[in-house]
Amino acid sequence: MKDNCYIPIPVKVARIRTESDDRTLRSFDLSFCDEREAFDFMPGQFCQLSILGKGEAPFGIASSPSEREFLRFTVNRVGLVTTALHYLEEGEIIGLRGPLGNHYPVEKFQGMNVVIIGGGFAFTTLRALAVYLFAHRQDYNNITIIYGARRPGLLLYQDELAEWEKKDDIQMHLTVDKEFPGWNRRIGFVPTVTKEVAPSPKDTWAVVCGPPVMIKFTLPVLFELGFPAERIYTSLERRMKCGVGKCGRCNIGPKYVCVDGPVFSYADLQRLPEHY
Ligand SMILES: Cc1cc2nc3c(=O)[nH]c(=O)nc-3n(C[C@H](O)[C@H](O)[C@H](O)COP(=O)(O)OP(=O)(O)OC[C@H]3O[C@@H](n4cnc5c(N)ncnc54)[C@H](O)[C@@H]3O)c2cc1C
Ligand code: FES
Repeated sequence: MKDNCYIPIPVKVARIRTESDDRTLRSFDLSFCDEREAFDFMPGQFCQLSILGKGEAPFGIASSPSEREFLRFTVNRVGLVTTALHYLEEGEIIGLRGPLGNHYPVEKFQGMNVVIIGGGFAFTTLRALAVYLFAHRQDYNNITIIYGARRPGLLLYQDELAEWEKKDDIQMHLTVDKEFPGWNRRIGFVPTVTKEVAPSPKDTWAVVCGPPVMIKFTLPVLFELGFPAERIYTSLERRMKCGVGKCGRCNIGPKYVCVDGPVFSYADLQRLPEHY
């Protein structure tokens, strides 16, 4: 990050890819205009992306630090900044501040099993985490990925998911809510699939990201299976402004999601005044 953390660095849109069949989700692979401004980061961190005249918004980094060639963000079009991002073309320059926030505790996961549970477009930083774990495969035991969406066309990174399914050293479970022509994987909600396929909680850490309703029903399943709150992690999305713990926009009780998070364990969240 720059000495002045409010000044964005210029980054070039190297590649744009439409992810979902309804075109509301797009991935942007960014490259640094000046390589000397490239930074180290960890899975789970986020950046503020800005477009002149439109504004700035936080997005989780969807690429892994092991992918040195680009920095990926996957953006759901919901309002002013996200729509402006969707109108970008390859070659255009935007602003970036980051990396911001904390990261998934991959150090604690070493030598343990990891189950990644995702729903919908919240799979962004989970992709970063999965690619990181693959790049350091020898440091981790069993890796299980459970990822669901309402329908196949809303699953992110479909080409990569197909490649991951071919790996024999991870367990992949893709699911959609209802039957769909051509879909030959699982059918069912993420919490139900989690109940069926989650590994034993012994020596296993769970990372869960998705829409609130998915989290709401997945957590009791994990608790029922025997996962302690200390070994279940998630990433929170609060409204943010500064991203560096100065403006007070993102606080939950005494914690600022932008600096103390966005990654929290459920044990941490249970100690806060407001949690899922
Ligand atoms: C740490 C973090 C990581 C995030 N990662 C991603 C990501 O990888 N991909 C992605 O698409 N989005 C992500 N978001 C959410 C993203 O920041 C918001 O969607 C974005 O700020 C909306 O900006 P906008 O100007 O387009 O919308 P606005 O015009 O400001 O608002 C449009 C609508 O979106 C709602 N909204 C705006 N911001 C948020 C928010 N933070 N949470 C919930 N609702 C909001 C508003 O209430 C309004 O209804 C992340 C947020 C945080 C805090
Ligand atoms: S966004 Fe300003 S304190 Fe978190």
